[in-house]
Amino acid sequence: MQSHLSWQYDEFNAVGRDYGSPSEVDVYDSSHADFRDIKAESIRVLDTLGIKRGDAVIDFGSGTGTFSVEAAKRGARVYAVDVSEAMLARAKAKAGEEGVSGIRFHHAGFLTYEPTEDLVDAVVTIYSFHHLPDFWKGIALKRIHRMLKPGGRLYMHDVIIEEPCALENVALFINKQEKAGGDFLREDAEGHFRDEFSTYDWVMDGLLARAGFSITDKHIEGGILGTYLCTKN
Ligand SMILES: C[S@@+](CC[C@H](N)C(=O)[O-])C[C@H]1O[C@@H](n2cnc3c(N)ncnc32)[C@H](O)[C@@H]1O
Repeated sequence: MQSHLSWQYDEFNAVGRDYGSPSEVDVYDSSHADFRDIKAESIRVLDTLGIKRGDAVIDFGSGTGTFSVEAAKRGARVYAVDVSEAMLARAKAKAGEEGVSGIRFHHAGFLTYEPTEDLVDAVVTIYSFHHLPDFWKGIALKRIHRMLKPGGRLYMHDVIIEEPCALENVALFINKQEKAGGDFLREDAEGHFRDEFSTYDWVMDGLLARAGFSITDKHIEGGILGTYLCTKN
């Protein structure tokens, strides 16, 4: 995408939770540990995608880097892409602590990352795509499509909402988060729906299809947590 568009969405200055703040980064892994095991999740995603030595993978919205580190441990060439320099710094430190090389870190996002190698085998994005409004999600998916090899795969996991009982399911989700992590996770979940851009699954289905993906597997847990495995047509 041309970077000089004056009307381009500023993904470096997004609304919602401020992951650019070092204090947010400091509490990220411990607060998420209250409702998910990021390392076990990462291993499951890598198994699902069948990532092996020599594969190239882009991790969009890499956060504190757990997925990127696990992918690099398998011998993949990993591109960890995030708009937050504080997150990238934490991910680099984690890679150092775990003794893995093979990750290249890029301060960029879905709309601004320019690939440094030809085409990759897989793109993974976990709890990050909702930071873009829907129009820009469509633009981003077309960019991701161009970054993948023919038959390459996109794995997406995020808050993606089924239409039936949407309001009830959101309320149940917020309660569940509160039970798991008290006020911090309740406020985190409330802010998510109030300020950020999670969308309906039927919108996501359409955006993916129009970008040139086939949905090979899709699951929406509790009507709220969506997992998509897609293949580039
Ligand atoms: C909730 S965290 C998810 C981190 C990690 N993927 C995980 O599973 O824990 C969202 C991450 O997406 C990043 N992010 C937000 N907008 C982005 C964009 N437009 N492009 C790339 N990353 C973005 C944030 O800086 C943050 O690190």
